[in-house]
Amino acid sequence: MNTSSMKTINNAELNLNNLNQTITIYGWVNRKRNLGGLIFIDLRDRSGIVQLVVRPENKEVSALAEALKNEFVIKVVGKVVERESKNKNLTTGDIEVEVQTLVVLNESDDLPFEINSDLTLAAQDLRLKYRYLDLRREDLKNNLILRHKILQVTREYLNSQNFLEIETPILGKSTPEGARDYLVPSRVSKGNFYALPQSPQIYKQLLMVGGFERYYQIAKCFRDEDLRADRQPEFTQIDLEMSFITEQDVRAIITGLFVKLFKEIKGLELQTPFYEMSFKDAMEFYGSDKPDTRFEMKLQNLSTVLANTNFYLFDNVLKNQGIINAIVVKNAADKYSRKDIDRLTDFAKTYKASGLAWVKLENGELSGSIAKFFAEDTVQALKQTLELEDNDLVLIVADKAKVVKATLGALRLKLANELKLIDPQRHALLWIVDFPLFEFDETVNRYYACHHPFTSPKDEFIDKLETQPAECLAKAYDLVWNGNEIAGGSIRIHKREVQQKMFKALGLVAQEIENKFGFLLLAFKYGTPPHGGLAFGLERLIMLFAGTDNIRDVIAFPKTTSASCLMVECPSEVAEEQLHELGIRPFAEVENGVRR
Ligand code: AMO
Repeated sequence: MNTSSMKTINNAELNLNNLNQTITIYGWVNRKRNLGGLIFIDLRDRSGIVQLVVRPENKEVSALAEALKNEFVIKVVGKVVERESKNKNLTTGDIEVEVQTLVVLNESDDLPFEINSDLTLAAQDLRLKYRYLDLRREDLKNNLILRHKILQVTREYLNSQNFLEIETPILGKSTPEGARDYLVPSRVSKGNFYALPQSPQIYKQLLMVGGFERYYQIAKCFRDEDLRADRQPEFTQIDLEMSFITEQDVRAIITGLFVKLFKEIKGLELQTPFYEMSFKDAMEFYGSDKPDTRFEMKLQNLSTVLANTNFYLFDNVLKNQGIINAIVVKNAADKYSRKDIDRLTDFAKTYKASGLAWVKLENGELSGSIAKFFAEDTVQALKQTLELEDNDLVLIVADKAKVVKATLGALRLKLANELKLIDPQRHALLWIVDFPLFEFDETVNRYYACHHPFTSPKDEFIDKLETQPAECLAKAYDLVWNGNEIAGGSIRIHKREVQQKMFKALGLVAQEIENKFGFLLLAFKYGTPPHGGLAFGLERLIMLFAGTDNIRDVIAFPKTTSASCLMVECPSEVAEEQLHELGIRPFAEVENGVRR
């Protein structure tokens, strides 16, 4: 005897091929229309929607159908029939299901917001509180299906390349990824804490020491940092590591993964190899280490051309080792009034620029905020260097190099968006290579690792780590897609002495090195293979494939910007006994920073 009551088919699979079949389907009432006895119901399951029809002759079913409300869960046995008026917008629009029996499996209260209504009508917080209802929405569902597919393609590809999927601990020791750690108190060892991984970086390197050669993991990472539209406190990496490889090998393997993802997800063939651009060129011409190369408007150096104006601000900047750069907004002089340029100036100031100078070339004449300071030969040199044409707008920033690059890099993107210079059909993928090894932080007057402290310097800089840190280049690389950094990695240091040198160059003293990384240096004593790898930010990848700019749209149960979950209401208070058990005093006992 068949005791299964499973559905015999998914809603969206139904079509004319199923005519006259008796089927069992389940789902939620998406919408109901009562046309004077004849009742139509849109039944929704994960696959999609099919129309049910209840005829008045079937009295029992009609009575049940009358009482149905949106989001009731029902089971239906019925016959597939051809529709009189077909709906071309629905995959199942040629047929409908004539209901023979109907069982109400569960009822639903009136919803706090309409699932299918305009999103802006339901406050974001309300939708997060009832996330499981929001997940019934088509676009969120599709994003999670896309997430699944991306992971599936990734696993298939990496498995085919001889990678092993290995999990690493969640309860671990702090790793220096640059953000604050989430800490977990130990009950057994009071006063001691585990740190949740900011990434599996050290574990994956130890797996290479362990001889696994090729590892990957779909890894949960936790970073307590200021959240933005593309950051969550808890996110996922496609994390991998390989032994006996070069930078080029890693990039080639990842390029292969990306080509496969593009083909399977988007049906597009990507040109390979991807373009490689040095960090130096990216900053020089795009003012960013994740340039969007789908449009030109490159940053141009005017430090020489404008070295001899009578403009005190430019003179001052050049005297103080600053630089002058410009972008040319082609054929846009007439589109930007003084008021518009004031708006751009305010924008430039948010990047710490002291101002935004501008000139326009109109009818062969240079006009604008600073044109009067330029002698005729300067005007000619400017026209020539920038290859100016009529109706071009030139935006100039003079400041410290860092400010100039950041400001014009951001303005370039803003203007491209305003002027719709980006072709949404184009995909620009490129590797940024030759990163600096260190970054100097002026506020605390010390060097930081640009990527992380395990990144190998290029061979020729190994002896310069402590003496010329600013010059050192790293074996590090980022993958950039349409101006978004989606993956980053490096060849690692595998020699104990070099790793020790690196820690010292970062200002760590012997005791600190021992406490934080003693275990790693110990492992490096025992035949560590040369190795390297990379990690994708999974959510950023899905966001780009899905075409959304909010990371929450690609996570089933995301956190708010204050790192809380409105649905389960966490973080939340815990019982005092629990704290005592962990050797932690309740927060209330701390007053004015002093424990009572
Ligand atoms: P990195 O710190 O560059 O490298 O991180 C890799 C990728 O992770 C994504 N990412 C995030 N996504 C969402 N929310 C966040 N808070 C967040 N932070 C980072 C980014 C980034 O490119 N262990 C190294 C990788 C390696 O060297 O192999 C690492 O974690 O897309």
